[in-house]
Amino acid sequence: MQRYNMFNQIHKGLRVLLYDTATMVQHTDFWNVEEAAETISRIRDVIFFFEKHAHSEDNFVFPAIKTYEPSVADAFEQEHVKDHELGEALAAALTAYETAPVITGKAALASPISRSFTRFMVFNLEHMALEEEVLNPILWRYYSDEELGGITGQIVAKLPPSIIAQSNKWMLRGLNVPEITGWLKQVEAATPEFIYLSLLDCAKEELAEQRFRQVMKGLGKTAAILTNP
Ligand SMILES: [Fe+2]
Repeated sequence: MQRYNMFNQIHKGLRVLLYDTATMVQHTDFWNVEEAAETISRIRDVIFFFEKHAHSEDNFVFPAIKTYEPSVADAFEQEHVKDHELGEALAAALTAYETAPVITGKAALASPISRSFTRFMVFNLEHMALEEEVLNPILWRYYSDEELGGITGQIVAKLPPSIIAQSNKWMLRGLNVPEITGWLKQVEAATPEFIYLSLLDCAKEELAEQRFRQVMKGLGKTAAILTNP
């Protein structure tokens, strides 16, 4: 039986956020201050989202691990400390760019920003993979899928709507079609209709046409929604 992977959806969203931002960093001409400002703003979003995510895990997921495997919980808390340090170093590189008084000084920071972002990305890709590899078997051993779903519910209930909206956007971009279809069905069954409809709108906005058509097909709602302007 396939068990509930509480990390899958959010980790896929965070990974695609990293991949997309990595491309943005590579495309940025750091001699162009306006272009750089957009990239810097995005990188700050990345740091913010990973901080929020680590905070949710520290408060809701690791305590569930700590009850049965305290040393494992400690090790992952330490990973979050390292993650925070990498985020601080990255933010410092961005601030150095913003406060450099002349354009040559700013342009010289292109490489340090890029290297610092890569370190942050690589650490987090490995960290998220390790969480799924090590923590899932522990969670599955001691908790039912219903209990794990309850932890996800507690996390989401604490998030402000603006963060939920941004997370939804990146999760839709990062998930495969069956995952998106399953998510929409679950939201339709469990929440007021306006929440389902706004997620559907977001899917229409974020997904490439073919992926959106496949999702609609999975929901059995092809014609009605696709013919709307
Ligand atoms: Fe984590």
